[in-house]
Amino acid sequence: MIGGPVLAVETSCDESAAAVVQGRDVRSSVVASQADLHAPYGGVVPEVAARHHLGTINAVIDEALERAGVRADNLAAVAVTQRPGLIGALLVGVSTARAFAYARGLPMVMVDHLHGHIAAAWLNPVALDPPFVSLVASGGHTRLDLVRDLAAPQLLGETIDDAAGEALDKGARLLGLGYPGGPALERLAEGGDRAEHAFPVALGGAGVRDFSFAGVKTSLLYAVRGRDPGDAERADLAASYQEAVVRPLAERLVAAALEHGVPAVALGGGVAANGRLRTLVAERAAAAGLRVAIPDRALCTDNAAMIGAAAQFRPLTPWPEFVSFDAAPDASPAGVGA
Ligand code: KG4
Ligand code: ZN
Repeated sequence: MIGGPVLAVETSCDESAAAVVQGRDVRSSVVASQADLHAPYGGVVPEVAARHHLGTINAVIDEALERAGVRADNLAAVAVTQRPGLIGALLVGVSTARAFAYARGLPMVMVDHLHGHIAAAWLNPVALDPPFVSLVASGGHTRLDLVRDLAAPQLLGETIDDAAGEALDKGARLLGLGYPGGPALERLAEGGDRAEHAFPVALGGAGVRDFSFAGVKTSLLYAVRGRDPGDAERADLAASYQEAVVRPLAERLVAAALEHGVPAVALGGGVAANGRLRTLVAERAAAAGLRVAIPDRALCTDNAAMIGAAAQFRPLTPWPEFVSFDAAPDASPAGVGA
């Protein structure tokens, strides 16, 4: 663990974020979302994201330091998301953090964004300690990890096509809802019957820990193509579709925890806000005697506090050795803690 306040910076997608984290305590966490900028395009436009990060990240860092009441010369280290993500967006965060650390003689920590999502549950007040199984489901990622050591989560399974959040967003669009569609789909689903349409759940089977959402998306497309379903039918379609996406998440999470004999499961990523997913996980976990750890919504969606958390389990790179480090768009082949 790093023995002092860490400034963490995150710009891998469409949130410019900075935080000050000390051990398990989040002393400040500032997130400037660009979601409104991308909404008219129905998705994140990489070039727009990178340009916008450039304009906001310095102010976001200043605000994080100010809210934490920490001066730059009291920091112990600077952490930054190195990968994976949109390369132009990542480069803004990495260059800004590197320049900040260089100018102040501070060491740096390079963090994998997914490692951050996994480590978020370790922060106060949830304060979950290993061993546990983590589900991270967002617009860009869907994965299960066995966490016996927060320095080296072990990947158990991941999506082989769309991310769960992406599947919800695309389904929402097919039902005429705006972007990001997950929350709107959940609201529409509230009045619907989740058993009305039997959408397929891919890769079923006892030991399966991977996910696939391309098939269910195509089924919804066929169900609505060339038609204009009324409000009641749209609600049923939304509820049945949401069920087909979140049920395998809940079932495979709990099955993995039982298989590996761990006492707890954790949720992370934007999809962790979904009420139906939370209910299913709570029911299954209670039946199996497992603790369910879900960080605050602000720590589930993209933020920099989670990057400060993962940084506690990574090696410090001394000043000025980090000047040659760069951003990388892809996942680390050696895993999120490597
Ligand atoms: O973690 P996040 O904020 O950003 C990244 O993708 O990294 O996750 C955003 C995703 C979107 O796909 C959004 O539709 C989904 O999380 N989401 C939800 C809900 N709130 C956000 N999906 C279902 N139900 C929700 N309440
Ligand atoms: Zn994320």
